[in-house]
Amino acid sequence: MRLGILTGGGDAPGLNAVIRAVVRAAMRTHGWPAVLGIPEGFKGLVERLDPIELTPFTTRGLINRGGTILHTTNRANPFQYPVGEDRYADRSDEAIQRIEELGIDALVVLGGDGSLSIAHKLAAKGVRVMGTPKTIDNDIQGTELCFGHQTAVATATDALDRLHTTAESHHRIMVVELMGRYAGWIALRAGVAGAADAILIPETPFEPDRLCARIRDRAQQGATFSIIVVAEGAKPKGGDVSVLQPGEGVYQAQLGGIGHQVAGMLEGVTHLETRVTVLGHVQRGGGPVAQDRLLATHYGVAAVDALARGEHNSMVTFDGQRIGTIPLEQVAGGFRPVPQDHPLLESARQLGVILGE
Ligand code: F6P
Repeated sequence: MRLGILTGGGDAPGLNAVIRAVVRAAMRTHGWPAVLGIPEGFKGLVERLDPIELTPFTTRGLINRGGTILHTTNRANPFQYPVGEDRYADRSDEAIQRIEELGIDALVVLGGDGSLSIAHKLAAKGVRVMGTPKTIDNDIQGTELCFGHQTAVATATDALDRLHTTAESHHRIMVVELMGRYAGWIALRAGVAGAADAILIPETPFEPDRLCARIRDRAQQGATFSIIVVAEGAKPKGGDVSVLQPGEGVYQAQLGGIGHQVAGMLEGVTHLETRVTVLGHVQRGGGPVAQDRLLATHYGVAAVDALARGEHNSMVTFDGQRIGTIPLEQVAGGFRPVPQDHPLLESARQLGVILGE
């Protein structure tokens, strides 16, 4: 079987480790003749970019490398391809033609929900596809863990450790905004691991009064600083951010997202000096931690195994114990927030750091 492989959407640590595992399993174990790397995600198919011949030799030294050697873009949906300012066209037939022209029997797609939904639509038009779940946000339906997530959590936890020492030195409130889009996985995990005093996630809209009371309580108990973790998708109860009225001495609340809004409110109410860190793409950068290298390797091998068994139009999964697969139709368009009964959310509640229901 001749495989094609591409990386779609935003990057995440572990992409290169999956590529390496796919190439080795396909060529060494199954003796398949070629793995073609498609550059720039689906754009590489539509725009007929030159593929990269991947071999076990050319993919050495990749397990610990961040980013993606194939490059990626999140503006290249073949079904809604940008063809001008605010204009889109369905160019999926051209993408499929290119797959055929390159003699690709099956396409391995390393992507998040957007890329996996595209893969599912290509499958409906007859392309054999196999997905692997990639996103630091960890919000893909059907799997407990997406590769990249554990690295982002480790990076964010390290940032929280560093912010602790400077917060303590200056008696400040440090508000730290973490990625995760509409899900709170990164904020919850890093917040607990990094000993945050409050964790605001979209799944449990926070009560601003409780947040302020928590900071005041800490001050009364003698704590001279606080660390507040805010997921970028966090919202106050009721969803109206205008309740986060900035007070005097505001930390430029108007400039930023939810992290700045929370900081503005807190500084106004508590009169404690406040600073905001928006950790941003640092969470996506750099090489994968050991757990992500292992998960990525399992996923790459499992994707090839599944194709060898004749399976396609699926995504590889991890249920906490075993690697498996799930049909893409159960993944596409889905979303996996932190469930209300998740054990870590329950622990965080019991630590008193979740200030909403
Ligand atoms: O989905 C991954 C993610 O990093 C989100 O956490 C974040 O909201 C978004 O992508 C940022 O996207 P971009 O790289 O396009 O700014």
